[in-house]
Amino acid sequence: MSFFLSKSILPGMQIILNMFPILIFLHSLWRWLVLGSLGYSIYIGYRGKTGKLNYNASVNQWRHWTATIAHVQLLLGMSLYFQSPVVMFQMLDSPGKLLNEQTFFRYYHLGMMMLAVVLITIGSAKAKRQKTDAEKFGMMLTWFTLALVIIIIAIPWPFSPLASRPFVRPL
Ligand code: HEM
Repeated sequence: MSFFLSKSILPGMQIILNMFPILIFLHSLWRWLVLGSLGYSIYIGYRGKTGKLNYNASVNQWRHWTATIAHVQLLLGMSLYFQSPVVMFQMLDSPGKLLNEQTFFRYYHLGMMMLAVVLITIGSAKAKRQKTDAEKFGMMLTWFTLALVIIIIAIPWPFSPLASRPFVRPL
């Protein structure tokens, strides 16, 4: 039996468990790409709408990549969710925090981030389908701003009263 386990399941399990530090490193780093792309798309949306600019191919690329970067973060987060010790194991209260860290990551971080990615997806799809350039810019501006506000609240910043994680996670 132990021979069977060591030859088949255990090496695979080992690889999965060893993925945690890599996943958390990537998830932490990728947050800056999410924030940067979203921030820049909002800026483009605002400038385009107020300055009556053309919705050209480069703007369209920004819209597309902003949504794709958010989708990659969603996938990283989902993989992390099923490996995180904070999510998996029962934890005691987190001193000095409004919530138990486990409650934060199990429900709030998951729920708010999923909502934000849905808003980005809707905004991106709606922007693509509008008739006028001003409407396209307007969609990007509104939906992406809503998503950014939610993401900023749900990130475990080092100074957050909900849960604290570093600005940069070393590998
Ligand atoms: C735009 C979307 C998201 C952003 C910007 C984001 C950002 C972050 C950040 C900055 C951390 C701290 C990383 C560290 O410890 O250094 C984190 C942790 C985590 N996130 Fe996300 N996240 C997002 C979406 C998600 C989603 C959708 C899920 C789950 C499905 C998720 C699950 C987790 C988990 C499980 C942890 C680690 C908890 C731990 O073991 O310490 N995240 N996230």
